[in-house]
Parts: sequence; C-alpha cells; structure tokens
Amino acid sequence: MTGGFVVEGGRRLCGDVTVKGAKNAVLPLLAAALMAEDEVVLEGCPRLMDVENMAGILRGLGCRVRRQGDCLTVDPRSADCFEMPERLSGELRSSIFLLGPILGRFGQAVCSYPGGCEIGLRPIDLHLSGLRALNASIEEAHGRINCLPSVLIGAPIHLDYPSVGATENIMMAAAKARGVTTITNPAKEPEIADLQDFLNAMGARVSGAGSDHITIEGVKRLGGTVYRPITDRIAAGTYLAAAAMTAGDVTVKNIQPRHIAAITAKLTETGCRLDSTETSVRLRAPARLRAPQRLETLPYPGFPTDMQAQMFALACIAKGTTIIQENVFESRYRHAAELTRMGADVTIRDRLAIITGVDELTGAEVQAGDLRGGAALVLAGLVAQGTTTVQGAGYIDRGYERLEEVLGSLGANIRKF
Ligand code: EPZ
Repeated sequence: MTGGFVVEGGRRLCGDVTVKGAKNAVLPLLAAALMAEDEVVLEGCPRLMDVENMAGILRGLGCRVRRQGDCLTVDPRSADCFEMPERLSGELRSSIFLLGPILGRFGQAVCSYPGGCEIGLRPIDLHLSGLRALNASIEEAHGRINCLPSVLIGAPIHLDYPSVGATENIMMAAAKARGVTTITNPAKEPEIADLQDFLNAMGARVSGAGSDHITIEGVKRLGGTVYRPITDRIAAGTYLAAAAMTAGDVTVKNIQPRHIAAITAKLTETGCRLDSTETSVRLRAPARLRAPQRLETLPYPGFPTDMQAQMFALACIAKGTTIIQENVFESRYRHAAELTRMGADVTIRDRLAIITGVDELTGAEVQAGDLRGGAALVLAGLVAQGTTTVQGAGYIDRGYERLEEVLGSLGANIRKF
C-alpha cells in the first residue's frame, strides 16, 4: 500500500466532528441493492475505498452505479451476470456477502474464495452452511465457489457463532426465498438492524434484528427505495479515542450514543468525562489517562473488535497496566510491534496483550498492516514526541474518509502524502 500520513505530536484535539454513513452498514446495503427491481439510492455514503470497490463489483455484475455527492444510486435492472469479478472480490473481504443477493437475484452464483486478510483467516463456513440450509447447491473447488441453479427455500438456521457477515448473507438470501427463515444466535450489531430496515423499505418482511431471533418471510419482489444508512460508530469511537489521548475536548455529532455505549463506558474508566445528547457525544479528557485495566472484545453489545487497536494505542500512554483480550479475530495485534518501536511497553501472548503505560511515546516511521491498526498508529503519532510517519494510507483509506482533514480540523498537525 503506497502513501501515508506524517503526524507532529503534542497537539490537543478540540472541536466538533460530524460522523458520516457507516462503512459496515453501506457495504451490505449495496450488496442487497442487487436484488431490487428498481433504482436504490443510498444517502450519506462515505467516500471510502471499500465502498468504491463494492460499487466496482456491482458494475462488474452489470449494475449501473453513480455517485452524486454523498448519494450513491444503484440501478440493478441491467444486472446480467452472476459471476463475481475475481480481482475485486479478492481485494474486498466483504464481497462474500454478495453471494446471498446474487443467489436471491439469479438463483445461481460463482465467486472466488475471498481468502484471509491481515487480521485472520476469515473463514466463510457459516455463510456457506447458512446458504446450503436455504437449499443452495454449493460446490467448492480450486478456490472458487460455485452455486448451481437452485430455488431458495426458507428454513430454520442456527449460527454456531454470531457472525455479522453470515447473518447478513442469510438475511438477504432469505428475503427472496420461498417460505419463512428463522436465524437463531444471529449477530446483533446495529448494522444488522439497519439491513433489516433497508430490506423492509424494499418490500421485504424481516423482523427481530438486534434480538436472539430474526424472522424473514420470503417475498417475490423487492422494489427500489431511498435510504440513509446509520452513521459510523467505529469512526466515532476512533475520534473520541484520539481526543482522550491528547487531553482534548471533542464533540462527535450525528451518532446514536447507544451504538457506542461499550466504547464510552471504557473511555469513562480512563478518567474522561462524557456527556451525550440524542445525537452527539462530548468527551473531555484529563491531563493523564488512567489505564482501563481490562478490555475484552466481544460481539455486540460487547466491546467492538474494530476499536481494539485504538484502545491499545490509548493504553500505551495511560497510567497503569491494561490487559486486552481479543476474542473475535485470531491475529489482530499487528499494530503491537509498530507501537513498541515508538517506545510502548507491550507483551503479546496469543490473544492477550499486556500493556504497561509509558510517560511518552517517540515519533518513528511505522507501517500500517490493516485498517484499524493503521488508525491506531496515527493516534499514537498524535501524542508521540516529534514526528511519526505512518506508511500504508491505503489501509486507512478503506475505512476513514479524509482522516487527515478530520483530525486537522480538530487541531492535529497531520498531512497525507
Ligand atoms: C464484520 O466482518 C466487519 N466487516 C468487521 O469490520 C468486524 O470486525 C466484524 O464484522 C466483527 O464485528 C464488515 O461488516 C464489512 P464476523 P465479518 O463474520 O462479517 C469468524 C473493519 O475493520 N467466522 O462476525 O467478516 C471469523 O473468522 C472490519 O471495519 C467464522 O469462523 O466478521 C471471526 O473470527 C474488520 N466463520 C469471527 O467469526 C464464518 O463463516 C467474526 O467474524 C464467518 C466468520
């Protein structure tokens, strides 16, 4: 990944930032749009690499996709291909949840095995077993997944693990299946309820998202709609962590506080003061943070794994020792080695990270290895003594829109190259 960020440490972050549409809501909604028989307009869509790549895959399937400002319009009426373009689907992990919509639309599908990425193997067994339960006839060979022509039939499905992507894939395929599907032990992330609301806006009959039991009554036709996805709780959490680390005072706007309750609770443990309105959260940080002591990542409503790296960076300069347990992905500590190069005191033992806060980090040239780890390195650069260069802007651009402009508007000394 080329390009990067140069950060001069030592500036307090102060001011307001307005959060945009959630990457992890927009991606499944774009996939679901393939099943509509009319135009779909998504409002408040962030300009992110992952979103552009998903739009590219939809175009590869024959859809017309156009952006006007923050609006993305998908016209799936010209879609005529059920084979996912290999290059793009390899680049975008989340392309796997196009499988459900392609099956829902065409009754057959071919895609490449998305493969692992920087944070783990990312298997898709729960996706495939869920779709097979809906009568999909799936063959896997030579890294390709071949779904032979079949009629999707609703069924009771239990997920061994509340996988976000598998829940979304099954919801989308079931929306066009014959009969009723139930999903027990589904993911409960806010993005799941957003997908339910979007599918229902297109004429689907989905209920129970956010609970232990989702019910989908298949329908023959899904129409177009204009829809505004929920805003990005991980971007919001990232900006609040940056404010906390720099002894700042930042208000994040256009966010539902309950979506970031686990994050704000953990930040309160570090000594920050947090005040919420219905659509905003303000954080005021002390001069020196207290270590949060213990942090475990869990499926929602537990602490989100996508905020682990950012809190890891915070723990590096908080007073005391923090023990982090990453329960969701098997290798999501690539940022640890880079933070150590900045002077952090860290021990990694399998899924455990033991971090003893130091008084000061030192700027260095570091390498992003994944999206959230890259963001964590930028946050560390905000407080490090001197200059930090974070290589690998491409990782960060996947999930943050113009991160340098957002942090710069809050007072950071940061530029992108
Ligand atoms: C979604 O990924 C998010 N991505 C991830 O955000 C997020 O970290 C993750 O959910 C957990 O919240 C999108 O929504 C596009 P999972 P997903 O299926 O669906 C295992 C970011 O930084 N698993 O809930 O891939 C899997 O290996 C990204 O924005 C299986 O074993 O997550 C992992 O250990 C990173 N078999 C765990 O479940 C399967 O079939 C959680 O995965 C599927 C998953």
